[in-house]
Amino acid sequence: MKHIEATGPNADQIEFWNDAGGKNFVRHQAGLDAMLGVFGNRAMEKAGIKSGDVILDIGCGCGDTSIEMARRVGPTGEVVGVDISQMMLARAEHVAQRAELTNAFFELADVETDPLHRDSFDLAYSRFGIMFFADPVAALRNVHKVLHENGKLAFACWQTLAESPWIALQAQAVVPFLAEEDCPPPADPDAPGPFSFGDPVRLRQTLTDAGFTNIEMEDFGPEVALFGLKNIEDVLDFALEVGPAATFFELMDEPTQAKAREAVREAYQPYITDDGVIMKTSAWIVTADKA
Ligand SMILES: C[S@@+](CC[C@H](N)C(=O)[O-])C[C@H]1O[C@@H](n2cnc3c(N)ncnc32)[C@H](O)[C@@H]1O
Repeated sequence: MKHIEATGPNADQIEFWNDAGGKNFVRHQAGLDAMLGVFGNRAMEKAGIKSGDVILDIGCGCGDTSIEMARRVGPTGEVVGVDISQMMLARAEHVAQRAELTNAFFELADVETDPLHRDSFDLAYSRFGIMFFADPVAALRNVHKVLHENGKLAFACWQTLAESPWIALQAQAVVPFLAEEDCPPPADPDAPGPFSFGDPVRLRQTLTDAGFTNIEMEDFGPEVALFGLKNIEDVLDFALEVGPAATFFELMDEPTQAKAREAVREAYQPYITDDGVIMKTSAWIVTADKA
């Protein structure tokens, strides 16, 4: 597989997804696929995927959705998964080969800045891989360009962080244990990141500016087992190694970390069940037409 340089407007994201972000997704793939599957499947249903369709999977990561869609479109269809993370794409290729799929292809490319080497996709799809662009309008214009004239866009993205206590409460529980000088400044909600498509007004405008029409946003908020894990200790390990609290946690000495871990456990306490930490989520399932 070719190499991608951490340059251009998405340099920070290229660096992150080829380092800690990619490593975490590869390492915890089974749990993350278990948690995210319901959202990806809902976007597939809304897209109305048909046998023979040719699909672009934006930010396909380790390829779970590309592989599922390759099965759905059958041998006369094709799925091209595009991502900036070499290690995640390597995993995707490996799984597709093991499944003996001959209609799933993977390409290392920045969806915002790189030419996408086809021009007649029936569907551009994404499961949480579309919120990381420095210039979302430019990226979505690039996607709009490579769709067939009757082509569609369908994706799942998170609503705002404020509407996502399942993840926000980790950082809220940990921040009080930080030294004052380590406390983070308020984050820009529109900056590239998991929650940047949360504001429905901004999201609709972004899609309109990129040329899409007939935009529909379904408010989709199933309860899920966090990170696909059953055991509370595993959930806490995940939250404090990978989640938004992890960077704060690293700044603490061991006794303070132990207290912060207990604070996260307490915050999750009302949601702990035998099947894991079960919490309601808030996502948008978005569909739009090229024309
Ligand atoms: C939260 S992960 C989701 C991965 C996968 N879709 C899934 O559901 O498991 C976000 C993905 O978007 C990819 N990504 C971020 N910015 C991108 C860009 N500019 N072009 C292509 N992929 C990008 C990341 O490398 C990462 O794989």
